[in-house]
Amino acid sequence: MECNCAVILAGGEGTRMKSQKPKVMAELMFRPMIDRVIDTAKNAGIEEICVVTGYRAELLEAHLAGRTETVRQTQRLGTGHAVMQAIPFIKRHRGGNVLILNGDAPFIDHRTVEDALYYHTTNGFVQTVISAKVENPFGYGRIVRDKNENFIAITEEASADEETKKINEINSGAMWFSADALLDLLSRITNENSKGEYYLTDTVSIALRSGLRVGAFTADNADAVLGANSRAQLQELNEMLRKKVIARLMADGVSVPCADGVMIDDSVKVGRDTVILPGVIIKEGCEIGSDCVIGPNTVLYKTKVGDGCVLNSVQAEEAEVRDHANLGPFVHLRPNTVIGEHVHCGNFVEVKNSTVGDHTAVSHLTYVGDSDVGKGVNFGCGVVTVNFNGKSKHRCVIGDDAFIGCNTNLIAPVRVGARAYTAAGSTITEDVPDDALSIARQRQTNKENWVIKRKPYREKKY
Ligand code: UD1
Ligand code: CA
Repeated sequence: MECNCAVILAGGEGTRMKSQKPKVMAELMFRPMIDRVIDTAKNAGIEEICVVTGYRAELLEAHLAGRTETVRQTQRLGTGHAVMQAIPFIKRHRGGNVLILNGDAPFIDHRTVEDALYYHTTNGFVQTVISAKVENPFGYGRIVRDKNENFIAITEEASADEETKKINEINSGAMWFSADALLDLLSRITNENSKGEYYLTDTVSIALRSGLRVGAFTADNADAVLGANSRAQLQELNEMLRKKVIARLMADGVSVPCADGVMIDDSVKVGRDTVILPGVIIKEGCEIGSDCVIGPNTVLYKTKVGDGCVLNSVQAEEAEVRDHANLGPFVHLRPNTVIGEHVHCGNFVEVKNSTVGDHTAVSHLTYVGDSDVGKGVNFGCGVVTVNFNGKSKHRCVIGDDAFIGCNTNLIAPVRVGARAYTAAGSTITEDVPDDALSIARQRQTNKENWVIKRKPYREKKY
């Protein structure tokens, strides 16, 4: 599909969303709808993509930041008008085919797009509309066919009579055009309708009147056409996707004994015999091994988890957790963290931009930041790697089998040698050699009878 391109319509305000953001940035399973639509185009092998922005264009352009071309539609005069803004882009693709996608229809999949292109080219159509049969066609453009089932027009809800409203085959908004025909058809769309908008959907009857061949490709996957115009519809789509993913995982051998609050992105892979407990959110870019227990109350983003791991009340982003690690409750893994095999991190432990070697235990109330921790290390309660001096960050290095005493501060940059000990309450500012004990705190002095002599207390009140 090298010479083909895509125009994604994303200028609309989405009045019914009542949002400060462009509608296409509303999230389906924690990903903006527009990102899913862009992925569909890319997965269908289309490299050249132009997004038409409009309402709060600057937000959308910043979000897209170089991932696609953009063109601004300064006034929202309809979907046909939106495509007109991309005419210079379309002109660069003369001779090829142009895919039009709606930025607010996030379920469109690349298979449907590819199958529609095949149908488009093998039938020699100038325009192929991707349609679907839905239970409730309200609000969508209806696919109108004549007695011989030939596709003759798309009629928008606002212009449809009672008979037309009963048609349940609808326009998904996704369509293929030959670039040259599209340029011609765009010049012939008018805004003579009840809304005074330039409807892209009018191209069907215009093309047919000129004797051009137009087709409607009915998608097998009826969900592919669903769009979200309101928060209620967005919730419906979220719920559909949520149930679909959970059903697929269970069919593949994952246990979800109670799906309450379980939201797993469709890109996520989970191994067999893993159990997902309530309150688990697994966002895009995660892979979970087999025989794990994930949850309750765990949020993962771009995180890889090995086999046999336990993650109880864990929040992790851009991290890797290797086989048989046992994390939680209440562990936070921040970006660029690798947790080794058989590691235990317990309550209120935060790890950032660090590697933690196999069999290391960080059991309570500890911050490990910008550190390279060896294997078999034991952290006492309340250890802090002091990685930030207010200006710059530095690393701590802890050798294999070291023992870091409770309430130790490790002032980076500092190195604790292999098998070395730090005494509880030490503030370590200098490297500790292998096998050494480092004590960095004042020696205790007891002042006998000090309280009796000084009477620092008030009279007892009880
Ligand atoms: C559109 C179709 C309808 C189809 C439905 C599928 C038209 C006239 N109607 O209706 O047949 O069934 O999609 O979901 O095409 N947009 C702009 N600029 C504008 C107007 C819209 O960029 O001036 C963008 C929107 O951001 C949106 C897309 O185009 O991503 C579709 O617009 P929307 O207003 O949602 O159209 P629908 O009423 O859903
Ligand atoms: Ca829409």
